[in-house]
Amino acid sequence: MISPENSELFESITSDLSEKGYSVNQNALPQHLSLQLLDQLHVMSRKEFDTAGIGRQQDHTVDNSVRTDEICWIDGSSEAGEKWLAWSSELREYLNSQLFLGLFSFESHFAHYGPGDFYKRHLDAFKGQSNRMVSIVVYLNTDWQSEDNGELVLYDDELDLEGFKVTPSLGTVVAFLSEEFPHEVLPAARDRYSIAGWFRLNGSQAGRIDPPR
Ligand code: OGA
Ligand code: MN
Repeated sequence: MISPENSELFESITSDLSEKGYSVNQNALPQHLSLQLLDQLHVMSRKEFDTAGIGRQQDHTVDNSVRTDEICWIDGSSEAGEKWLAWSSELREYLNSQLFLGLFSFESHFAHYGPGDFYKRHLDAFKGQSNRMVSIVVYLNTDWQSEDNGELVLYDDELDLEGFKVTPSLGTVVAFLSEEFPHEVLPAARDRYSIAGWFRLNGSQAGRIDPPR
């Protein structure tokens, strides 16, 4: 069952994904959840963040010419993490019921970009090589000003050079098809916090359960 506070947002994400493949929603995450996630960030120490890498498992490498942020994977061990996972699971079920996507699991991390940090243009999934299907990004920055920069730029396809800029303000929720939209994070003038997550298809093979990240 979808809770009433999420219905408008989930309907908007669903119709945007089916019509254009991406969705940008301002002031969209329920405010109590945004604030709780923000509180959680404040109590987390810098030690809990690791330098972000590229690729998965044995292909994982750290390359600071591509991205310089630091991340912390979210599990249900804090109340905020638990609520976030419940929210994303509700969205996953809604997308499955409306678009028959067969989304099977979800993984997500907090990301901290210090001043000047960036993530160069990239795709979250390569066709046929990954089971990441829908990417979601949520922002946790209060009072973001245009001179703070640090926008997410979404490109419609490989040839699009202009892109579409999203301001990383508290409560903005972005969703897009992981294989279709190259995107990048521009350097910001101040600390920038986000959550990035991926809904995945079931990648289990030969009776092995789908391995985590
Ligand atoms: C990512 C990503 C975007 C953002 O982590 O893959 O593209 O705005 N993040 O934080
Ligand atoms: Mn990305």
